[in-house]
Amino acid sequence: MFIRLLTLSFLFLSLSVQNGHAAGDQVKPPSQAWSFYNGPAGMFGYYDQASMQRGLKVYREVCAACHGLKRVYFRNLEALGYNEAQIKNIAAEYTITKGKLNEEGEWEERPGEPKDKFVSPFANDQQAKYANGGAMPPDLSLITKARANGPDYVYALLTGYKQPPAGEILSDTQYWNTYFPGHKLSMAPPLSDGQVGYEDGSPETLDQYARDVTHFLTWAADPYMEERKKTGLKVILFLIVFAGVMYSVKKKIWKSAH
Ligand code: HEC
Repeated sequence: MFIRLLTLSFLFLSLSVQNGHAAGDQVKPPSQAWSFYNGPAGMFGYYDQASMQRGLKVYREVCAACHGLKRVYFRNLEALGYNEAQIKNIAAEYTITKGKLNEEGEWEERPGEPKDKFVSPFANDQQAKYANGGAMPPDLSLITKARANGPDYVYALLTGYKQPPAGEILSDTQYWNTYFPGHKLSMAPPLSDGQVGYEDGSPETLDQYARDVTHFLTWAADPYMEERKKTGLKVILFLIVFAGVMYSVKKKIWKSAH
């Protein structure tokens, strides 16, 4: 009886999961060569600081108009290779609203500091939806974890806008995207060639912008990836050495037993 119930609930679960995705046919995004997937099973993966710095610039100049990044603190930007003074400067470009009214009845404000988080562009979800024709721009802090094949998906989405096939009707606020489930995406193509200035001579192209901002967002969603992989490698090395030692101990013991 119990087993039956268990099978039934599994069946139900898998059905409901399938339904969740049935909203539209999902096209698998092509795999890209990311440095964070370097080596067998991504074992030697690392983040490319130059790419993340450019990606931060793309986020701040383009995506931040609609998308928050509320889980990232300015001090975390150290991982991109910025020093304390640079981080202070970046933080100070943001305005933090204190939870306190001044004598004129307005919210008191102060410049951002390294201990603050990125400020979201809208005060609440309602405002965010209203400004975007009813669609909600999700916070991007965890987006590469929240989608299957996250980095490949985000890159594919940003570069995947197409004319709709004949017979498909889009509303004024919809755009056809090959990789969005259901294809009808309420985000106008956010990037185009030449839109963001790069200081390091990297190509100022849609393709490069999409790669860099995805690299940056992958770090934002998984900032401890590098440490985790280093620890993993050490554990594997230890286990190999340990297995070798145990093997020779075993041989020695059995030799004397014979
Ligand atoms: C003008 C506002 C606007 C800008 C600028 C913008 N977006 Fe969006 N974005 C949206 C809206 C609205 C949605 C929700 C679309 C929907 O659900 O149909 C969205 C959705 C997304 C999604 C989620 C798609 C999914 O699978 O649900 C990602 C990822 C995304 N945007 C990334 C970006 C990135 C990266 C940038 C900067 C290069 C950017 N967006 C710039 C408005 C914007």
